[in-house]
Amino acid sequence: MEKKINKDKKINQTNKYKKIPKKVDKDKDKNLNNDINQYNIEFLNYSKDYKYDLNFKIIIIGNSGVGKTCIANQAIKNEFSENYINTIGLEICSLFLKLNNITIKFQIWDTCGQEIYRSLIKSFYRNSSLAIIVYSINNINSFDDIDLWIKELKINSSPDIKLILVGNKSDLEEKREVQYEEGEKLAKDYGFVHFIETSAKTGENIKNLFIKAASVLYTKHIQYKEAESVSSHSTFHTAFGDNFEINKLKRKKSKCC
Ligand code: GTP
Repeated sequence: MEKKINKDKKINQTNKYKKIPKKVDKDKDKNLNNDINQYNIEFLNYSKDYKYDLNFKIIIIGNSGVGKTCIANQAIKNEFSENYINTIGLEICSLFLKLNNITIKFQIWDTCGQEIYRSLIKSFYRNSSLAIIVYSINNINSFDDIDLWIKELKINSSPDIKLILVGNKSDLEEKREVQYEEGEKLAKDYGFVHFIETSAKTGENIKNLFIKAASVLYTKHIQYKEAESVSSHSTFHTAFGDNFEINKLKRKKSKCC
């Protein structure tokens, strides 16, 4: 019974959103422009392996078919495919960036969105520094389900994980079911660090998404280092499990004892 009510609600919402197509104001993102101006960020060639200074785990979640794999492929290889092949379980890939003089490795965990794998995904959240939660702007159900993804994350991830909300398939403007403002509001209400609309097909904002991720995680890293230097007895808890600076620090400490 409960399921039926929810379904009806979704149908009504879909109709409501379809009636008010609105142009997206793409100049809004002053925050992102500040990051681009503040840091000199360069994407490194994906086919090489680099020595890196910082390593962050990023998990991409969201309903099946919203474009998670395509976002990762576009960011790493500048590639897009119309073919839809379900991710089975998980794919892990690497993206290297240079932020000022620091080489950053993003270990990207591209998860499957199919419901049958949901219980499996729970085990992937551990040690993630940042989660990219994706819906597609032409699919109201994928937007409504963001709620569920956030709940899952809260239960299974580190409390200080950073969240970015992505409305993908922005090229499908004529099929839009979720307005830009709705995504923006949801991100604000849940305390996401950023909201962005992307198109994995045209590449629009894909690089900007990872520029934002780099800037958020680098800032967090600096804050962590500062907190560590203020108090060597600090119990400051972070999701930066793979961070080499921290590993170094731990090694130093264990030598002392
Ligand atoms: P699961 O692996 O099932 O969780 O799906 P996913 O979220 O990884 O979706 P995937 O990246 O495989 O893309 C699903 C379909 O959407 C494919 O047919 C893609 O070509 C298409 N697609 C992905 N991103 C975009 C986009 O930005 N615009 C358009 N028009 N199509 C897209």
